[in-house]
Amino acid sequence: MKINVLFSPVSVDELYFTGKTSVVIDALRATTTIITALESGAKEIIPVGTVEFAVKVSGGMFGWQTLLGGERNTKKIEGFALGNSPLEYSAEIVNGKTVVLYTTNGTKAITKAKFSSKLFIGAFLNITALAKHLALLNRDLEIICSGRSNNFSMEDSICAGKLISEIEKVNEDLILSDSAKASQALNKSFGKSILKMLKDTEHGKLLIENGFEEDIVSCSKLNSSNSIPFFNGQAIKLLPDSVESSQSGLEAKTN
Ligand code: MLT
Repeated sequence: MKINVLFSPVSVDELYFTGKTSVVIDALRATTTIITALESGAKEIIPVGTVEFAVKVSGGMFGWQTLLGGERNTKKIEGFALGNSPLEYSAEIVNGKTVVLYTTNGTKAITKAKFSSKLFIGAFLNITALAKHLALLNRDLEIICSGRSNNFSMEDSICAGKLISEIEKVNEDLILSDSAKASQALNKSFGKSILKMLKDTEHGKLLIENGFEEDIVSCSKLNSSNSIPFFNGQAIKLLPDSVESSQSGLEAKTN
């Protein structure tokens, strides 16, 4: 199994992903928000690459029967029902709803990778469950870090490195690209506290400045979820098996 990491989706075009198995990571905060929303019972998430398209999809295709969510510069967009804070995506708000989501980097990375034959969503929350699934699939893998403004982001790269190390626990036979090895090395170097690491990143500092420190706590919860969201080319849903194991995981946690 070969694994490559893209530190930003900008270095390749959409066709690069044709037929590939891919994972998109935006640890702060988009992919964490997506996992949270689906676990709260959202029917599906429709990721979009522009605000204009978000409004069009929401109005035109679903007759305004959707929730519009997303951010610009971390803040809720005027006219949208929700921002990009995982804490907003509670069951009371999103259960049974289709959420159209626009975020600066995360949903753009997902839409860019839309030609992948299998496209999964990863964050610190679901890393072990996702790693086990990918190891069993045993297909070459592209891990896409959403990055920041077409650039490197520490938190996504560390999350990618952690994902690779978790895959390696199940499948020792990995062939890693230089960027995959660099991500693993970064993950091994940052110390133990994911929360501390996240707060110390450029994006973490911006979130704190803008009043979203609690979101960083949500994004740091390693393996709090067994859910595996996947994008089917139109919408992001949970893999059915992951729903069951997620529910039994939650039951175990509450017992
Ligand atoms: C993004 O897609 O760039 C982020 O999720 C930004 C954020 O809202 O923290």
